[in-house]
Amino acid sequence: MCGIVGYVGEKDAQEFLLQGLKRLEYRGYDSAGIATLNQEKQPTLLRAVGKIKNLEEKIKNHRTSDHLGIGHTRWATHGNPTENNAHPHQAGSIFLVHNGIIENYQDLKKQLTSHKFQSDTDTEVLAALIDSFYQAGSISLEDAVTQALKLVKGTFGIAVLSVLDPKHLVVARSGSPLVIGVGDQETLIASDASALVGHTKKAIYLNDGEIALVSKDHIEVKTLDLQPVSAQVEEILTDLSAIQKGGYDHFLLKEIMEQPTSLKETLRGRINQSEHFVHLGGPGLTPKELKSIHHLIMVGCGTAYYAAQTAAYLLEQFLPDVTIEPVIASEYRYRQAYIPDHSVALIISQSGETADTLACLREIKGQGIKTIGIVNAIGSTIAREVDGGTYVHAGPEISVASTKAFTSQVTALLMFGLTIAEVKGVNSRLLAPIIEEIAQLPDEIARILQSVNPLMSNLAHQYKDYQHAIYLGRDVNYPIALEGALKLKEISYIDANAYPTGELKHGPIALIDDRFFEVVILQSGFLFQKSLSGIQEVLARGGHVVVFTDTDFDLPVESVIKIDTNFTILTPILFNLLNQLFAYHMAVAKGNNVDQPRNLAKSVTVE
Ligand code: G6P
Repeated sequence: MCGIVGYVGEKDAQEFLLQGLKRLEYRGYDSAGIATLNQEKQPTLLRAVGKIKNLEEKIKNHRTSDHLGIGHTRWATHGNPTENNAHPHQAGSIFLVHNGIIENYQDLKKQLTSHKFQSDTDTEVLAALIDSFYQAGSISLEDAVTQALKLVKGTFGIAVLSVLDPKHLVVARSGSPLVIGVGDQETLIASDASALVGHTKKAIYLNDGEIALVSKDHIEVKTLDLQPVSAQVEEILTDLSAIQKGGYDHFLLKEIMEQPTSLKETLRGRINQSEHFVHLGGPGLTPKELKSIHHLIMVGCGTAYYAAQTAAYLLEQFLPDVTIEPVIASEYRYRQAYIPDHSVALIISQSGETADTLACLREIKGQGIKTIGIVNAIGSTIAREVDGGTYVHAGPEISVASTKAFTSQVTALLMFGLTIAEVKGVNSRLLAPIIEEIAQLPDEIARILQSVNPLMSNLAHQYKDYQHAIYLGRDVNYPIALEGALKLKEISYIDANAYPTGELKHGPIALIDDRFFEVVILQSGFLFQKSLSGIQEVLARGGHVVVFTDTDFDLPVESVIKIDTNFTILTPILFNLLNQLFAYHMAVAKGNNVDQPRNLAKSVTVE
């Protein structure tokens, strides 16, 4: 979703802002802009609809040698993606970029009669409000910003410059992340630390309710009531290679193929294969607390929710006295759901910034329930607000469609479940095979990816012109089918839905015709025969059936991708690799923008 960058220093501000915005492209956006200021207090505002390259063209024709500026990628909320609606917004001497939503902007707008509004956005209202305070009297830019923010309802991460002050930027946050990079004679601003990688390793993560006045060699953080804060400088651990394509055509393929290593990071130091135990340090629950857990709520959106569903099926196999409730954050935040005693909530998020997931975290925490983060992005808001947490350590995920995060989330959730099971004294003979498979999972993933990737391009060419897809799976393979359908619709734009195979005859079977193909996840063992019956029902109606399986079977389906594995418990995670590769090759075959699919955002920071 929207991205913010800012620069004050001695180097070329346009260059940093442009490169920074390119780093944030992955988040999803539909317009972009920058404003820079020279020492003679002359601003240059450049904005463009569409991709950053359109903005880059404009910058080429309007090069400046300014050393201070702000930039933004906008994902439209209030008003269409037009140049006038793109940020930065100007009001008087103020230029502003903003992530989040000003909920009371219409009320505020009515009072700002002296400003001639150019856009439909809530952000311009905030710019005009800041300007009204700034113009009204001899107050500093920082004071004007805090006065304005006191009147605002909603969420914001903002960066502000004033043409009257070519030495400072003011930044503030409430509900939308902002990071200040501490450089040598330069200070960098970004809504996401990936824009700072390669420029500095030192960063200050603003907390909600904080504001900072920054110059090239000074950073002063305060609360919005202007009380001083002693801000902590933290290290940015990401290196450049983690945010580059590394020889792959797309980040998505890189992220799919790097799962053996990203998963190793998830497991590092947490699993003892020879002695069959799991040790997770992060959650910070005592053995007594772990033992008393009888209810797990797992909260997430999109792929994180499907990771929760997948893990729930697996965990209930070895946690007999724990009920497990995966919930969709955007729904759960408004439910009046009763949370029983002895509950723990697992808050699952790749980005750690998803607005609905964050709202659930706050709601659940407010009820006195312990919250544990299963988060990828280090230092993100969810990671900072949970009571305890386990980073999944999958490394930066740049492509909008989530892949490696899913595998790491499911595995981290499994390890959390195993920790509970161990403390509860669940028979170690039941747990040992699961731990065994987890430990072997990175190598098994590597083998399957290598063997299956070359087959997928052909398969994709065979099915790319269909308009609809139905994914079917039973038991753990049902959420895997859901995740497969999500991947396909996200990046190939084929209408794809998933159903439990047993539900086919209760409705979906009515759809089957030549516009559809059906992907069936067929696992040997439990429910195998029943899944075969499902396939037969589809075949009997002339369905175009693709089967992802780990076994041989005797049915005249159109296509089969068989994986060769000795796994039995975690095979669904392996099937999901097929889902990921199939969706990837479908998107490539259709000529789509694989890493930045239309209308989607990587990190959904607004409701
Ligand atoms: C967006 C992304 C999805 C992601 C979901 C949850 O919709 O496009 O890929 O699964 O948000 O994101 P989170 O960062 O909370 O895991």
